[in-house]
Amino acid sequence: MSNYHIKHLEEYYQVYRKSVREPEAFWEEIAEEHFLWRKKWDKVLEWDFSKPEIKWFEGAKLNITENCIDRHLATRGDKTAILFEPNNPEEGAEHITYKQLYHRVNQFANVLKDHGIKKGDRVCIYVPMIPELAISILACARIGAIHSVVFAGFSSKALATRINDSDCKMLITADGSYRGAKTIDLKGIVDEALESCPGINTVLVAKRINSDITMKEGRDKWLQPLLDAASNECAAEVMDAEDPLFILYTSGSTGKPKGMVHTIAGYMVYTAYTFKNAFQYRENDVYWCTADIGWITGHSYIVYGPLANGATTVLYEGVPSYPDFGRFWDIVDKHKVNQFYTAPTAIRALAKQGVELVEKYDLSSLKVLGSVGEPINEEAWHWYNDNVGKNKSPIIDSWWQTETGGIMITPIPYVTPTKPTYATLPFIGIQPCIMNEKGEELKGRQVEGRMCIKFPWPSIARTIWGNHQRYKDTYFSTYENMYFTGDGALRDEVGYYRITGRVDDVIIVSGHNLGTAPIEDAVNEHPAVAESAIVGFPHPIKGSALYGYITLKDAGESRMHDNLRNEINQLIADRIGPIAKLDKIQFTNGLPKTRSGKIMRRILRKIAEKDTSNLGDTSTLLNPEVVQDIMDKSL
Ligand code: PRX
Repeated sequence: MSNYHIKHLEEYYQVYRKSVREPEAFWEEIAEEHFLWRKKWDKVLEWDFSKPEIKWFEGAKLNITENCIDRHLATRGDKTAILFEPNNPEEGAEHITYKQLYHRVNQFANVLKDHGIKKGDRVCIYVPMIPELAISILACARIGAIHSVVFAGFSSKALATRINDSDCKMLITADGSYRGAKTIDLKGIVDEALESCPGINTVLVAKRINSDITMKEGRDKWLQPLLDAASNECAAEVMDAEDPLFILYTSGSTGKPKGMVHTIAGYMVYTAYTFKNAFQYRENDVYWCTADIGWITGHSYIVYGPLANGATTVLYEGVPSYPDFGRFWDIVDKHKVNQFYTAPTAIRALAKQGVELVEKYDLSSLKVLGSVGEPINEEAWHWYNDNVGKNKSPIIDSWWQTETGGIMITPIPYVTPTKPTYATLPFIGIQPCIMNEKGEELKGRQVEGRMCIKFPWPSIARTIWGNHQRYKDTYFSTYENMYFTGDGALRDEVGYYRITGRVDDVIIVSGHNLGTAPIEDAVNEHPAVAESAIVGFPHPIKGSALYGYITLKDAGESRMHDNLRNEINQLIADRIGPIAKLDKIQFTNGLPKTRSGKIMRRILRKIAEKDTSNLGDTSTLLNPEVVQDIMDKSL
């Protein structure tokens, strides 16, 4: 038997060594013993980071939904697969068993087929956190269509860009969504987006808030009657290991969002294996990840990883603050949640509310606490550990990315001793290294630099949709023969890793990855704006927040600064989404530039961070005089 479930530290080291020395033999054994294949592979791994080309389990045939659903029916048919907790607690939870999930996914798959969706077609999913979101994802996978989920908080422009980039034929959405006490007019956003998406010929609309929406004749269809009329059996399409499973967009430091492409077999094997170990999931545990399925965390650790293990996964529709800030703990208590996975920004927001709301509930079911999405600060770590985990549930600070598909560096709970703010040790099969700016590897302990990965792991993204060159340039060109993560990291005296943050122009706001360039583009669209530079600054709840330095075409416009601030933020909300709004806007007389005209963001970042003691030599700038002025008026 392979080491599918690691139970102590010695075993971790032993399995880790094996996974690094004989990666192919290691992953072959895991794949062979724990998954359902229609045909086994011809070759476990083929790779070349210089092209880059990565193939896992080539020649194998499978369908991921048979692994996530069908194979559980005999032993877990009546077990809850998805436990849906609605926004409004009074509505009551819905338990969807594996058997019911099987039928609902198949019905949905038949509806897709009836509307002309075939293997390889792209389907955009813009659905809030309701069961139809997970079901539509699985329905696409059932018939071999490639899903592209767009977080249902993105604006119509952001949605349209993503639909067009991957040429989606169909859009799945809802009439609206609940967000605490508010409702959001999702269908209105969709209608606006689709004005510039000629490729979409069908829109399937799930009914959630019963709002009065307009349905475009011939294009828009209510989902439920179609599901009711469809057969609940649909044969799974037999797919190749390296066929794309999904596209998921992530921000780059420049240009339009990158559609990361994940393929079927490697992604399945790695997310399932990491889920089992990083959460120490045992049969009958109730697992809850609070992320939105619109992000990679939800794809891998609400949908695919848990279901591939036959787990019960909670899907929560709402926000942490509704009806009050005790809601997360109420849900943990009500459903006896065993593993709880959330983001530092949520922890900080909840910590601010005081412990009474935590103490009101029985959290004794909790065995494992997880953190993901951004560095967790020491204070938040201790609050989480003391008040939620009661010093007995290990915190797994798990570092990974949309591009990596699955967890890369993490403590294994009850196996790896934790250390606040450290993601600790690489997961099985992962070979991280720390590089300096000259391209040299920093070996040994107590080193700090940029984090790369030396060897492929099964769930690494294979390309950027429609732009393989950009994939190569972004991840494989900074350092030869290595995947460059874009993150800084240090390795301490015992070999533990701590992620120190992005080293590029990506800023993580409340766990959301935001590229500065698209935000600047939106700001610059305002007719009064001459140019702008966006940087991050520390924020007590969001981790980082956005600081915009904006030069106006006509400095005399200063009388209307507050109006301008609102207009600029509205423009950002329209172009990208409310998550990208600027917390601070400073109007400047100019931006510091190099002699070649490049904006010196490093200086602006330091000013925003209120760390001006070491600005470096500014005398070589094209316009050194603006620096003092910016500092004097800094917010
Ligand atoms: O900077 C790292 C940060 O989030 C980035 C990836 O963002 P995204 O692709 O949206 O995926 C987020 C969820 C997997 C990383 O490059 N990040 C993620 N997890 C951590 C983290 N930074 C520090 N500690 C973490 N645990």
